[in-house]
Amino acid sequence: MTARIIDGKAIAQEVRAEWKIRADALKARGITPGLAVIIVGEDPASKVYVANKVKACAELGLHSEHIALPADTSEAALLAKIAELNADPKIHGLLVQLPVPKHIDGDKVLNAISPDKDVDGFHPINVGALATGNMRFAPCTPYGSLVLLQKSGVSIEGKHAVVVGRSNIVGKPMALLLLQHNATVTICTSKTVDLAKYTRDADILVVATGRPKMITGDMIKLGAAVIDVGINRMADGKLCGDVDFESAKEVAGWITPVPGGVGPMTITMLVANTVQSAERSAG
Ligand code: GUN
Repeated sequence: MTARIIDGKAIAQEVRAEWKIRADALKARGITPGLAVIIVGEDPASKVYVANKVKACAELGLHSEHIALPADTSEAALLAKIAELNADPKIHGLLVQLPVPKHIDGDKVLNAISPDKDVDGFHPINVGALATGNMRFAPCTPYGSLVLLQKSGVSIEGKHAVVVGRSNIVGKPMALLLLQHNATVTICTSKTVDLAKYTRDADILVVATGRPKMITGDMIKLGAAVIDVGINRMADGKLCGDVDFESAKEVAGWITPVPGGVGPMTITMLVANTVQSAERSAG
């Protein structure tokens, strides 16, 4: 078997066009959805992510604010900035790019963001809402992965979904979203004993471990849908995922490439969450 390649770029374009229609409808009512992105410090990867988030907003005609604070910003100053944006009616979505510098308590920061503007879905209230089936904002990367499956025609209900990775940003919310769509879900970690026993039984396999090429073709069930959330830079400068694409594509039914798979969807769902937040505040 040669897998169908899930084209994240093309699907992201399609989804963005759908959300642009909703954003334009709000603008016709005098409401421009607005996103504020705060970055603290100079982490090069974070700077690229933040620039791309702001650019995606501009492309859809959204209002965006890029707040770059120096690495030595105090926790109190950051919390004050968050409070200001929580109260700003032009802003419907607010996020602080992670990780924050070590002298700042990341949990305190996430707790300070208004749950009504928490477009990353990281506030404990929104984590709880997802866990209890009352989702308000789904975290963007797992939400985007779910949309990739849906748009590719992969059926989820009743299927065995295995998520490798249990981070708060990807693995845990991914498992909850799949459960919400009636999959039977197993969560594994890089420490799972006999990991292949689980992955070989997966109809849907989502991998988010940050370990380059750790899932190989012999660990995948024939015809499975494989979503590779990993993005790793190799010694030769090339990017690769957590799945060994070459061997996996011979076995899988569907597979996302790296780059060009999940990546373009993450920012798309951030825009979607921002527009949705503006819709809610507009009533
Ligand atoms: N750092 C890595 N991924 C993310 C994300 O989705 N949101 C935020 N705020 N920071 C991140």
